[in-house]
Amino acid sequence: MPSAVRLSLQAPCGLPSPIKVDFPESAKGTPETLISCFDHLVLCAAPCHDAHFPPQPAPRPSSKIGSRAEQRRIYLGPKLSDRATGGPDAGPLIERFSCLFKDQYNCKYNPKGIVSLGVAENFLMEKECLEFFGNALRHSFMSSDLSYGDSLWGSRRINHALSGFYNEWFHPADPVLPEHIITGVGCSAVLDQLFYTLMDEGEAILLAGPYYTGFDRDLVGRDRVILIPVPVPIGDEGFGPDSLKAFDKALADCKSKGIIVRAVIVCNPQNPLGRTYPRETLLQYARFCEQNDLHLVSDEIYAMSVYDNPHDPSMSPFTSMLSLDVEKELGTPFDKARLHVVHGMSKDFCANGLRVGALISQHNALLLRAMANTSMLMKLSSPADVIFSALLNDKAFLKNFITTNRQRLGEAYAFTRKWFNDRGVEVAHSNAGHFAWVNLGGRLGFTDAITEKKVFQTLLDGGVYIAPGTAYHHTVPGWYRVTFSVSRDNLEVGLGKIETLLDLKVL
Ligand SMILES: Cc1ncc(COP(=O)(O)O)c(C=O)c1O
Repeated sequence: MPSAVRLSLQAPCGLPSPIKVDFPESAKGTPETLISCFDHLVLCAAPCHDAHFPPQPAPRPSSKIGSRAEQRRIYLGPKLSDRATGGPDAGPLIERFSCLFKDQYNCKYNPKGIVSLGVAENFLMEKECLEFFGNALRHSFMSSDLSYGDSLWGSRRINHALSGFYNEWFHPADPVLPEHIITGVGCSAVLDQLFYTLMDEGEAILLAGPYYTGFDRDLVGRDRVILIPVPVPIGDEGFGPDSLKAFDKALADCKSKGIIVRAVIVCNPQNPLGRTYPRETLLQYARFCEQNDLHLVSDEIYAMSVYDNPHDPSMSPFTSMLSLDVEKELGTPFDKARLHVVHGMSKDFCANGLRVGALISQHNALLLRAMANTSMLMKLSSPADVIFSALLNDKAFLKNFITTNRQRLGEAYAFTRKWFNDRGVEVAHSNAGHFAWVNLGGRLGFTDAITEKKVFQTLLDGGVYIAPGTAYHHTVPGWYRVTFSVSRDNLEVGLGKIETLLDLKVL
């Protein structure tokens, strides 16, 4: 365990100090979230001078703020709601991310900063985005964009543009109409509102693990639902139709414990594994949900970020759940009211900061109506609306953008894969997304979660951030998610740091 830490990882002034904790014995073998991975790090706290925060409490493994008595140990102001303070405590994670984001590496302005290869951001189309987005604002932003616009749950402009886009690129079995879509400020917000409407507190969702760690924040934070990872193998088997057998078992386990399961999430292409699901598997997801009367939410945020992987040409093209005609293809009934697809602009259009997400639910008017009650809370800002409407309506630019982005993602994956393979590190087969799934544990000879976190900490202290696999609920420690869709310079500097810090020589 390193004793000295980077000053840059201290808490921003004014926030309650993070608590200094050693890895507790009890942490071994317990399920992880990104919150808990950060939570167990040893970090020095900046002194905190706000009168509402008493001196730093004694060290404790912090994931729940807990009882009112416990809250009073860390906060002396008027009572806050149990709803907001009684769930997972994301404070440490938010603080550390703020520190990380503030101190990002830049070869010119911050050469000693942290190279972030842990966040799914795509900088490969930066030049094209800046040029197009700037022009769109200059030419298409109108005086009406200063008002609330023409709809309280998005705008007619973006819904028309999105429906045209989904009809062309997602090949839906039934045409997507503008009124099937609700937009929001990113998929995180859309998922939060969707699950608020689909489920009650304490009900559960099944999803293949490892899974995108942000679901823990998006769905548990306010909706208070339970996410149950269904461990599936990370190779071909985990993406095949038989992987649904593990869901049968998980559902039976839940029933025996009195847990009510209401929904299944399929993330296609998968995050963190960066792979598409074959059509047959998606059909089995639909069958499973129909048989067990569950909602089926398909998160397709990486739909257009699919590239060729010459090492495994058999990988499936992207298939949207919208394109399945389940009744016809399986020959069994399927209630389409249970299917909800989420997509957004962050990943496929390299603009995490613009915050555009969309829900497409084609056969559930009651759901859309219920969501309309609160959709104003996540209404798009008009500049983001203008930019993406212009992009989606410019068919020639759009096609060229998607094709070029795919080609650059493929090149960056191939480069990263070779880099790790040359140093004896196994890299899982991927064909989508912004990241590679790499097995450093296999190369460095460890298989436990504690060492996985120590390696993560060593790299962070040395100035490079990659995301540890247990944070994604992966059951086999040693794997990390490495983002490759950054500039080649940053990628090489980050990989160079990994090489030096872990002594990974070319074999
Ligand atoms: C699978 C998945 N869903 C949803 C999100 C949230 O995206 P945003 O809120 O930026 O639209 C992400 C972001 O990483 C993701 O990977």
